[in-house]
Amino acid sequence: MVSVAIMGVGYWGPNLVRNLIENSLCSSVTVCDLEPEKLRKLLRRYPGVSVTSNPGEVFSSPTIDAIMIATPPKTHYELARETLLRGKHVFVEKPFTLSSKDAENLISLARERQRVLMVGHTFEYSPPVRKIKEIIEAGDLGDILYISSTRVNLGLHQKDSSVIWDLAPHDLSMLFYWLQESPTEVLATGKDFVQPGIPDVAFIHLRFGSGAIAHVQVSWLAPSKLRRTTIVGSAKMLVYDDTENIEQVKIFDKGVNYRDPDTFGEYHLSYRAGDIVSPRLETYEPLQAEVTDFLESVIYNRQPRANGESGLQVVRTLEAVERSLSNSGHIEVLATAESVV
Ligand SMILES: NC(=O)c1ccc[n+]([C@@H]2O[C@H](COP(=O)([O-])OP(=O)(O)OC[C@H]3O[C@@H](n4cnc5c(N)ncnc54)[C@H](O)[C@@H]3O)[C@@H](O)[C@H]2O)c1
Repeated sequence: MVSVAIMGVGYWGPNLVRNLIENSLCSSVTVCDLEPEKLRKLLRRYPGVSVTSNPGEVFSSPTIDAIMIATPPKTHYELARETLLRGKHVFVEKPFTLSSKDAENLISLARERQRVLMVGHTFEYSPPVRKIKEIIEAGDLGDILYISSTRVNLGLHQKDSSVIWDLAPHDLSMLFYWLQESPTEVLATGKDFVQPGIPDVAFIHLRFGSGAIAHVQVSWLAPSKLRRTTIVGSAKMLVYDDTENIEQVKIFDKGVNYRDPDTFGEYHLSYRAGDIVSPRLETYEPLQAEVTDFLESVIYNRQPRANGESGLQVVRTLEAVERSLSNSGHIEVLATAESVV
């Protein structure tokens, strides 16, 4: 069993607290937030947890094995570094860090200290995303030609983080998890319509070594909530709609075949429109699977699925997106198309 502390119980942290309390692999939960009112509110919901507003107490506690960090992104690096230096395992919410240099430092520190380092790529634990991975790996869609992802809503505008660092980690981590490769080229356009200097809309294009291309649209400035991904393969096509209650994934037996014409004037395209199938999905909470992966990684001394390397691939891509954005959509070439297995 693992004794865990959570740092930061603003909007997201309480979800981690609930999932830890419900997890039989967790022996105790300590909660730390700089704002005492947040702790009072949490205690009303979960009277059994220990609370403190002093992070130093958590770092120096000999009984706490691991810390989960759900504080604002700009604090992730220092808190995760301190956690590892104190010999504790660490889980860091997305975005892992705000620079690839910081991400690399944390990866080497975790390796040196032989501690678990995990990143909160929650979607990699969600039943539809896992099912889509199985479908792609089974070859049901054929070769992946392109993926188009839309994650838009009205708000929540962040004070110190752009829509790119807030929302795009979800889509990028899913893309890399499905394709098992990182992009070779990235370009992006976007704009800060509401708060000066903080982009709230972005259109991101990615090219992969396999030949696949992808497009990710993220926005805090849209009339309705859309969480929709289309994957077009050479054999079949798939639509994943995370806002649906049922049938979140649909596979379309649709496609178009090109045939060299035998005679001049012969029509050489044939369209296919077959069945639409919605596969059965398991019904567990993604956060419960994520927390279990972290606790099991600590107990069995193994790498979690969303490890530091996968966090680094996302951060490197986000940096390239930002460079392109501030350079009028210039194509950013990324060093190599490393695997993110
Ligand atoms: N995985 C997901 O789906 C998901 C969803 C939402 C948010 N997040 C991530 O969770 C993190 C937190 O987001 P949020 O929306 O809850 O932010 P928030 O601002 O609502 O809450 C952050 C909390 O951290 C506390 N805090 C700040 N510095 C601290 C420190 N040094 N020690 C202890 N507490 C400290 C603040 O007082 C605040 O209560 C972000 O990284 C965000 O991207 C992840």
